[in-house]
Amino acid sequence: EKGGYDHFMLKEIYEQPRAIKDTYRGRLLADQGLVKMSGIEQNMEKFINANRIIIVACGTSWHAGLVAEYIFEDLARIPVEVEYASEFRYRNPVITDKDVLIAISQSGETADTLAAIKLAKEKGAFVFGVCNVVGSSIARETDAGAYTHAGPEIGVASTKAFTTQITVLTLIALRLAKAKGEFSETKYREYLTELETIPSKVEKSLESNALIEIIADVYKDSTNCLYLGRGYNFPVALEGALKLKEISYIHAEGYPAAEMKHGPIALIDEHMPVFVIATKKGHYEKVVSNIQEIKSRKGKIIAIVTEGDEQVRDLADHVIEVPETLESLTPLLTTIPLQLLSYHIAVMRGCNVDQPRNLAKSVTVE
Ligand code: F6R
Repeated sequence: EKGGYDHFMLKEIYEQPRAIKDTYRGRLLADQGLVKMSGIEQNMEKFINANRIIIVACGTSWHAGLVAEYIFEDLARIPVEVEYASEFRYRNPVITDKDVLIAISQSGETADTLAAIKLAKEKGAFVFGVCNVVGSSIARETDAGAYTHAGPEIGVASTKAFTTQITVLTLIALRLAKAKGEFSETKYREYLTELETIPSKVEKSLESNALIEIIADVYKDSTNCLYLGRGYNFPVALEGALKLKEISYIHAEGYPAAEMKHGPIALIDEHMPVFVIATKKGHYEKVVSNIQEIKSRKGKIIAIVTEGDEQVRDLADHVIEVPETLESLTPLLTTIPLQLLSYHIAVMRGCNVDQPRNLAKSVTVE
């Protein structure tokens, strides 16, 4: 049932090209220049007249929400707030019938996310669900929604659920951007065509597996790690750190790279591996100077870069390449090496990758 892989997590990492295709099948019609999603079409007025979109989720799904914040604001120009469901529900939040709430959940059973939905509905907000499990509680409780169609995710650490959530949310943002007239036809078509190339670029990113195994062996005995990114890749840094923590039990922190100098840079010495997402588009030069700051304090740098990069290669201890794409789509690629890295480190440390200690796949209690 693991399809020849040693663990479900690895199988699910490798399923991502297909899972992403399944997510956009019938929805992304690049040759016709169309995005078709019935849950969006039927509620278009609510989305485009929304005061703001509030995204609620937990864990990895919350990280997908953070990526979506960048996409929705950048492309569709709709204000977005991203909330931990557990904080939102107890904060007496200001919600009106002009708000749209998007709940993201792989399992569709997360207790805090479900409670946040109920609260928002009581206050009159329109509630949209992005779930993987068909017919789950959250799917049933929401006014409308879009499934991710990632297929069953068995490994406790979320992998393909994350990239397919980002895919669905990107489709929604693109459709709304078009409806609001934020995009020219040419720009819209450029995005749709590029999104269609993502599965093969994920495939390409997976080819770094052997290199990543070598890097994992170098850093497997670390006691702490930092993950840095900016812009669209700041949430990817958080997700990279979470993946390492949950399956390898190594302490890790994700930060927006520019926050380093406000505290965490004090941690840097020759024993601190720092994973930096430094793809060509999106604050590249600024990330390069962040890398220089770490290097001058003797930190070890493992950088995720765009194919053909020279500048970071000269500075970093290791580089892992991903193909070039539009800035807003880079999280779908930069996530892949970080998933593989956590996987290999956890295996080398003898951890139970698919069922890490203290964790459950579905968190049905608060
Ligand atoms: C991390 C992980 C958890 C879940 C979180 C939300 O790998 O699996 O952080 O992302 O418990 O679960 P869902 O998406 O089912 O609501």
